[in-house]
Formats: sequence, structure tokens, C-alpha cells
Amino acid sequence: MKRSLLFLAMFFLGIMASAQAPEILSPDHAMLRIDVKDRYLLLPVQESEDNSNVKVIVSGEQKQAFNIRLAATKVDYFVPLDISRFGSGSLVLDFVLRKAGRTAEDVRKMVCWWEIRQDDRFDTSNRERFRPAYHHTPEYGWMNDPNGMFFKDGVYHLYYQWNPYGSQWENMTWGHSASQDLVHWKAMPAAIEPDALGTIFSGSCVVDVANTSGMGRGAVAALFTSAGRSQTQSLAFSTDDGTTFTKFASNPVITGDIRDFRDPKVFWNEDARIWNLIPAAGQEMRIYSSADLKSWKYESSFGKGYGEHSSVWECPDLFKLPVRGTGKQMWMLVCNTSGAPAGGSGTQYFIGSFDGHEFTTTQKETLWMDYGKDHYATVTFDNAPQGRRIALAWMSNWQYAGVVPTTQFRSANSLPRDLDIFEHEGRYFCGVTPSMELLALRGDRIRKPSGTCEIVVDLKKSASIVLSNSKGEKVVMEYDPLNATFSVDRTLSGDTSFHKDFPARTIAPVRGAIRQLRIFVDRCSIEVFDSEGRMAITNLVFPSEPYDNLVVKGCKATIYSVNH
Ligand code: FRU
Repeated sequence: MKRSLLFLAMFFLGIMASAQAPEILSPDHAMLRIDVKDRYLLLPVQESEDNSNVKVIVSGEQKQAFNIRLAATKVDYFVPLDISRFGSGSLVLDFVLRKAGRTAEDVRKMVCWWEIRQDDRFDTSNRERFRPAYHHTPEYGWMNDPNGMFFKDGVYHLYYQWNPYGSQWENMTWGHSASQDLVHWKAMPAAIEPDALGTIFSGSCVVDVANTSGMGRGAVAALFTSAGRSQTQSLAFSTDDGTTFTKFASNPVITGDIRDFRDPKVFWNEDARIWNLIPAAGQEMRIYSSADLKSWKYESSFGKGYGEHSSVWECPDLFKLPVRGTGKQMWMLVCNTSGAPAGGSGTQYFIGSFDGHEFTTTQKETLWMDYGKDHYATVTFDNAPQGRRIALAWMSNWQYAGVVPTTQFRSANSLPRDLDIFEHEGRYFCGVTPSMELLALRGDRIRKPSGTCEIVVDLKKSASIVLSNSKGEKVVMEYDPLNATFSVDRTLSGDTSFHKDFPARTIAPVRGAIRQLRIFVDRCSIEVFDSEGRMAITNLVFPSEPYDNLVVKGCKATIYSVNH
């Protein structure tokens, strides 16, 4: 009795503090009228809840719609809805709530109604110990694939698959960050938001230097997937260097006949003097061409009989790379898919030829760019300086990305890597080297490892490198020249309990003897590279305290702090 009185009091106090009382129209429908006072409406999220659909209605017109796991019994965190963009009057939030067995009375008692409030600011300061210090992360919310990366006028632009309304996959929107050095990223306003054609899935950007589209010299064109009832490819232009985009009036520009049809990668093909675009279609990559970025012609498909085919192909990329130590160049087709050697998501590649119409390869073996468990959706920057080919990967795995132990944000991108091709025993492989910008972060030599450090290891023969903490949590790395492998074992690395596929020993094949390793530790990740770029292995770890102990056998290690 007492408890219910307290509950009622809390309820009414809450309603007074929030906007107005909600109107509960049925067990799955509520409305809330808001008089806009501040910039943001802070919406309370409870991750274990089902999604509700919210419509923002102004004068009877729908201005925005999104899904959110509205808090029912407790608030995990808040997300901001910018209501200042709808003018200063009043608006109606229309909620469709779905949960089997819930009554109108249950809906009335949901904590969200008295937790929703207006504020002029939203606190994005870091509250989480697993947030990387020198990797890109969203300020808040869920992130998956890097999208639309390009370089222009000294600035690297990175867009990403983002949920602005929670830390689970939903409401795909292009978030945006900008950087001058690929390491320090500034959060920018969201760049491309869902529309009637669908949410905004992965895609790419190009700088239209020669104004082939008529949108102006140096306009930025984004090609992305509109994920509606079908997946179609759409176009948007930016004439302010990628800050805001205007969608093309005749979207979609490409439609298909297949359910999984997405992630267009667009690039200027200097040899063929045309634009090429390559979306994933089922378990193939399709190739298109265009003179103006707007009308596209289908050329051919690649994939049947090549590589890994246990699931859909996603996030393609296609570019020319120098072959190390020769004057030669070869094309590389990047194909992200699951079925990677470490289990789940991974990045395979094919080395071959491309004439603007067709990609061909003689490669028989299935090859992967990184042999860790947390390296997916890898794509490269358009227009990078000095002919560099710089890649970023989403540092997670679809097996468990939604349950990793963070909440304010979910997922980081990998460190930037420069790609090239090297030859070993008559075969060609992708070279992966940490981008040179990372050297500028190298700080003083330190005695013990810390949560953010770089460890340089000089090798001669077989070696083991063990990072551990006082809780007995450890990551065991082993170089085995006899079997030509390097492995990273995270089975005892800390919290691995959140998913059965997280504990793992990942093994990279090593092509040629390795002389030096660079190991980058950043709170929840360990990326290991051979200094000469012949091996990369990226893994997440969630230790209950940072690894502060390093024991090496058969090698010599130097530890550096990382300035960030
Ligand atoms: C890859 C992917 C893409 C898709 C996006 C949706 O991780 O499945 O194919 O465009 O994520 O967020």
C-alpha cells in the first residue's frame, strides 16, 4: 500500500517535471504533446525493452520517425532528440509500443513518461572505461561500418552506420567525424538521415573534382543504400565539404532484383575515364559505370566460384595498389563477409585486373586482410593524398557486437592502415601497415604496459608475449616461425562471458619471417602488426583492469606510452 502511494507520488512529480502527461490511447498507442522550450528532448532508453516506434508530428505533418527501446522499469541511459529543428511551437510525439501482453495500465506506469525531459545540453563526456583513447568512436549510440570516407583540403572525413537513439543497431543514419591526422576525430552533426525510401545503409563518397555531375567543382557525392522494403542505391550531394548533403531528386538511382543489394562503393577510374560503382548483391559484387554519377549502366558481376561463400557479401571496395619493390600495380577487390577463419565477420580480398567493365583474378586461395576476430566492413578513403590507400575497419564482429560490455557507445573503428601488395613465394598478398600518423603518437619509453600503449617487439625466432594484470587475466601471443603462424589467445583476457563466441585463439598465417611487431593496446583492443606489413590481427579484450604486466620469451620488447 505504502509502496503504491510512493509510486503514485513519484509518478505525478515526474509528470510535472517532464512535459505533459501522456495520453494512453490503447495498450500499444500513446501520445505526448510537447511545448518546445529547450534544444533537446532527452529520451530514456532501457536496452532490454522492445523497440517502440516514435513519430514526431508538427501541425499534422510527420517530420521524423524512429525506433527506440523506451524505458519501462529502469533507465539505462538517455539519448537526445533535437527538437529545436521543428520550430518553437508545440509538437506531438506519437508512440506505437509493442510488447505482448502489456495493458494500457502497464503502459501508463512506464518510467519513460516521467523521465522524458527537455534540456539545452546533452552530456557526451566519456563515462566508460572501455572507451578507446586513440581510436575513433561515436560520442554516443551504436556504430557499425565506416562509410563514405574521403579526403579533401587537408581533412579526412569519416561517416559511419549510426543509431542516434540507442546503443543497439537501429535507425541507420550516417554519423560523421572529421580529422586532420586520422587519429584525433571531431564529432560532426549527422550527415544523412532516413527518408521515405528507407534508412541509410552503407555506402561511399567521391570528390567530383572535374564536375562531371554538374553539382560544382569539388562537390562531394555520396552513394548509399536506401534500406526500405527493397534495398536500392541512392545519391546525395554536398557542396559544403561533406557537412550537409542534399538528396538527389530522382532517387533511387539503381534498383535490383535481389534482396541483399547494398553498400555501393564509387570511385573514379582514371584508366577507363569513367565512374565505377560496385554494390554487393547476394554473394556477388556487381559492377556499374557512369559518366555523371547519376545514371548507371550494369557491366558485370564477380564472385561465383571465388572465395568464401557461407553468407552474403557486403561492403565492397575496389582499387589499384602498388606491388612492393616493383613498378607494377594490381587491382584489389575487397569483400567483407562472414565465415572468416577466426569465426564470424572478416575481410577477404582478391588480387587481379580490372578494366572498368570486368574484374578478373587467377587467385585460387581465399585470403583475409586481418586474422583477428574484430575486423569487418573494411573500406578505404577516396582521394587520399600521395596516392595512399588508407583503410579503416569496424572493430567488432556481428556474432557479439550488440552485447559487448559498453553502453554509452557501442563499437570503435580500427586504427588506420595503409595498404599495398607484396609478393611471397610467387603469390600476391595484401600488405597492411599501421598508418604513419601513428608514429607521431609514440610517447616516452615506459617500464610497464598500461591501458593505452604501443609495444614494439624485436623477434629472431619463436617467441611468446604475455600481457596480464593482477586479476590473472591475460592475453597470450605466440610467434611460431616453424609453422609460420602468429596467434593471439584471449580466452582468459577478462570478461568473455557475454557471448559464447567471444573467447578465442586467433591465428594468422605469416608470409616470410617476421622481424618486428607493433602491438597497439587501447583499453579494449589489441592490434598486432608485423612492422613490414605482412600480417595484421585485431582483437577486442575487456580486462577488469588494464594489463600492467608484460612477460616475453625469445624476443625483446620496448613499451611506449601513446600520446592522445
Ligand atoms: C555490414 C552491413 C552492411 C549494411 C550495414 C547496415 O556490416 O550489414 O551490409 O549496409 O551493415 O547497417
